[in-house]
Amino acid sequence: MKIHKHEVIIVGAGGAGLMAALYASRGGADVAVVSKLYPTRSHTGTAQGGIGAALGNLDEDQPIYHAYDTVKGGDYLADQNAALVLAEGAVEAVIELEHMGLPFDRTPDGRISQRRFGGHTREFGKELVRRACHAADRTGHMILQTLYQNCIKRNVNFFDEFQVVDTIINDGVCVGVVAIQIGTGEFHIFHGKAVMFASGGWGRCWSVSSNAHSMTGDGAAAVLRRGVPLQDMEFFQFHPTGIYKMGILITEGVRGEGGVLINNKGERFMEKYAPSAKDLASRDVVSRAIYDEVKKGNGIKGKDYVYLDVRPETVNRFFAEEGRKERIDAAYVEKKLPDILDFCRTYLGVDPVKEPMPIQPTAHYAMGGIPTNVDAQVVIDENWTVLPGMYAAGETACVSCHGANRLGTNSLVDLIVFGRRGGMHMADYVKGVDWTPLPADAGHEIESEFKRIRSSRGKMKPYQLRAKMQEVMMENVGVYRTEKTMTEAINVLRELRHEFRTNIAIDDQGYKFNTDLMEAWELGNLLELAEVTALSARNRTESRGGHSRDDYPKRDDENWLVHTLVCRAGTDDDPQYTINTAKKVDMSLAETDERFRPKVRAY
Ligand code: FUM
Repeated sequence: MKIHKHEVIIVGAGGAGLMAALYASRGGADVAVVSKLYPTRSHTGTAQGGIGAALGNLDEDQPIYHAYDTVKGGDYLADQNAALVLAEGAVEAVIELEHMGLPFDRTPDGRISQRRFGGHTREFGKELVRRACHAADRTGHMILQTLYQNCIKRNVNFFDEFQVVDTIINDGVCVGVVAIQIGTGEFHIFHGKAVMFASGGWGRCWSVSSNAHSMTGDGAAAVLRRGVPLQDMEFFQFHPTGIYKMGILITEGVRGEGGVLINNKGERFMEKYAPSAKDLASRDVVSRAIYDEVKKGNGIKGKDYVYLDVRPETVNRFFAEEGRKERIDAAYVEKKLPDILDFCRTYLGVDPVKEPMPIQPTAHYAMGGIPTNVDAQVVIDENWTVLPGMYAAGETACVSCHGANRLGTNSLVDLIVFGRRGGMHMADYVKGVDWTPLPADAGHEIESEFKRIRSSRGKMKPYQLRAKMQEVMMENVGVYRTEKTMTEAINVLRELRHEFRTNIAIDDQGYKFNTDLMEAWELGNLLELAEVTALSARNRTESRGGHSRDDYPKRDDENWLVHTLVCRAGTDDDPQYTINTAKKVDMSLAETDERFRPKVRAY
């Protein structure tokens, strides 16, 4: 196997990976970014509506209000120290992005333009505030391009289309990863002093998802299989507005610009569920409301979707009813939401300036993931014990600043703030440690596993198993869950994993761009993560944020202000999972400010 040696190895080239690469290289480290995609195709590029920062350009705002919204929106499961770091870091990070050349929309007097988003308020919930800094509805795309260009300027080494498949830990220290070069099928070892996983989420576990096909949780699964726990896997966010059946994201920015949700009676139904925030309540609240409307028979044409209406006449009518002075027209919608209009016109034949958009909740974002501290160092237990050399940032990590439900725009903040902190920490760390050698057999086990999969001549195609997994996760471990639905899901997932191990069919025996083989590998990752999601969810006997149980409908702060850590032992044929709930939520802000103490959420 070819061995590459760089002080810092970063897995993934989305916003977190690129920001970490930039900062580690500025700190003097020799950095390699290993990514299964060409960097500017990373999923960060699909983030639409904005990046939250309390700049106060249009309304009075402060980082402490942002921290409060983050903690409240996260239904009090967020580690409060991390939420504060996020909110305070956001302001500097956005200004830095601007200085790097990111083309933000502007206010008439030239400052960064900001829009409303769900759960963004000032003065601890008093009033909605414009906090989402945006570049039309393609903010993530602009962040990705800006960071990539800056990494190229700093001579960061890129290994594009290399898929990481295993983690190498020697003597308790993370020393590298094993990757397949997709174009040749060859295995490569990346030996480093510090390794960061910034490899994104696993929304492809569900059938309706805003996530790209590439979002298969490769990094999280690779560390789980090597004994690192995953945290709070039960919390997976459903974004309320995905294009019906396709799941493609329709940004919350549509509602931020005045768009409203409408049922088959023509009612703006969010007025019933969240009288104050209405359509801009937090995502868990809005997604549940859509499900409830559909259950009551209020879906459009009796089906499982509702309308999102941003036609100027509709928006202006509600603005007038609410006593708001602003008015919009078709040209404004075209300017602020060009990609959304394009998606709807292209994929649905619907013109949002003239017709409402059919939408349904779509699996969007993992609040859980690889546990880290605020410097992106991976921690492996309730005592915050650091695993030397291993880092994680972005969606694959769990800091946990989002708690049980992430606020819109905080994913981009998370990437930038914790990517940067991780990059700086790695640059310092690699200066102070010697190289830990690779184990003699590095890469052998995973190479044999790939030989086994490649030679499988069973009857089931990977896509058939994937469709069954996605269906059972959508039905049984979706917006609403119960003990019964989750147990059924776990049983089905176990059967699918057995099929995956014993009866998979790989037709393509080639080595170059063998997508048949790689998709099978990704399916194995998804099955692993789907199972730990269902197990963690069944274990948490309460409802909180994105985890909503019909059989335990109340939040239980007495017993559940704790994080879930799920660990894997056993073999690939018979994995054994243990769940530990001894890690307490950080309540440091609540100790001095009663506004941060858990209360019933009201909208
Ligand atoms: O609605 C959106 O534009 C999504 C943003 C986010 O997930 O933060």
